[in-house]
This record gives sequence, structure tokens and C-alpha cells, in this order.
Amino acid sequence: MTQDELKQKVAFAALDYIKNVPVIGVGTGSTVNHFINYLADMKGSIDGTVSSSVGTTERLKSLGIPVLDLNEVGELEVYVDGADEINPNKQLIKGGGAALTREKIIAAASKKFICIADDSKRVDVLGKFPLPVEVIPMARSYVARELVKLGGQPVWREGCVTDNHNHILDVHNLTILEPINLEAAINQITGVVAVGLFAARPADVIMVCKGEEIITY
Ligand code: 5RP
Repeated sequence: MTQDELKQKVAFAALDYIKNVPVIGVGTGSTVNHFINYLADMKGSIDGTVSSSVGTTERLKSLGIPVLDLNEVGELEVYVDGADEINPNKQLIKGGGAALTREKIIAAASKKFICIADDSKRVDVLGKFPLPVEVIPMARSYVARELVKLGGQPVWREGCVTDNHNHILDVHNLTILEPINLEAAINQITGVVAVGLFAARPADVIMVCKGEEIITY
């Protein structure tokens, strides 16, 4: 199976978690895009979705799936999203698609966060995938210097402007042994909007596709 076929298979498996759920939080990325395609087939049985990015919103709307404002929906039952890295504690690195801030908001506002991925995303220790940090543009250099003090090597994702009109620093060379502490430390830096470390609020359920098998825990 190709990596994309693995993503498609796990996206299909996630449908088990959205039965009788009226409003579904929807993440961003190529794995979630498969999930959105399946969602289109059952749009008549849901009230709508809450979207984590402009890209996801456009895709949902193009398929006739209603997109609702999180402020009007309140707490979500279920949020389905992908990840760039997953550790054994269900903590994640996300933000490869620059949507980390809205993804984090939806994760925080959801009762159950279902993370779907192909098996290549599983790691023992987070940090090989450069950690995305969304920053207010004028704070970019300052935040970068502070991230160096934390042991990372930040690289500006040039040309990338987030849906919130901010910039992204991708932090290389981190071995994240204490994800909750690092998340808190980065959140403390003035000018940081959000860090793509989902540790204090990890996923609730991991579903990965490995060959023909769906592993759920
Ligand atoms: C976007 C994300 C994605 O969930 C992450 O990048 C995984 O993407 P893909 O499903 O394309 O592998 O965090 O900001």
C-alpha cells in the first residue's frame, strides 16, 4: 500500500467514531482530506462541522458540508485530525500544514480527539519532525532567539503566512523528553501564538494504519 492509501484506509476507519455525532471538528492535511471525502457521503446525517483551517473550510463547503462557527456550537463531541509525529503517550507534533493554532483550539474545545495517521508518524521521542511555532510577525526574530536558548534551531518557514496572518518558525534539533514542560516554556515566550506540541492536551484515541491493519489505542 502507498502512504496515501494508508491514510485513506485510516480515514475510513475513523467513521466509526462519528456515528450519531451532530457536529464534528475537522482537522487539516492529506489524511483528513480523505476523511472529508467520506464525510460528504453522510452529510445528510450531520448538522455540520467546525473547521480548523481555510483550506479545510473550502474543501468542506465545496462538497456541500455545512461549516459552523465554534462560538455558536460550544463543546464538540469529536475532533478528527492527523499528526506529524505521535509518541506512546498520544502526545503529538502538529502544524506541518501551518494550521496548528486553530487545530489546538478545536482540540481544546472537544471531548474526544481522534488522531488518524499512517504508521510512519509513530515515534518513541518527539522532535525529529521540526516543531512548528506560530508567531506574531514582528516578534519572529525575538522568538527565534528565545527558542535557541531552549536548545532548538528555529528556521523561518519563508513565504508561509498562516490563516491568522502570522509566521511559522520550524524548530529543528529538538529531542523532546518532557513534552508538557517544553510546551509550557514555548507558550511563555512573548510573541508566540501557539506551538505545535499537543502534550498538555494530547489525543484521546490514536488510529494508525499499518499495512492492512488498523491499530487503535
Ligand atoms: C496540519 C497538521 C496535519 O495534521 C499534519 O501535518 C499531518 O498532515 P498529513 O495528514 O498531510 O500527513 O498538523 O497543520
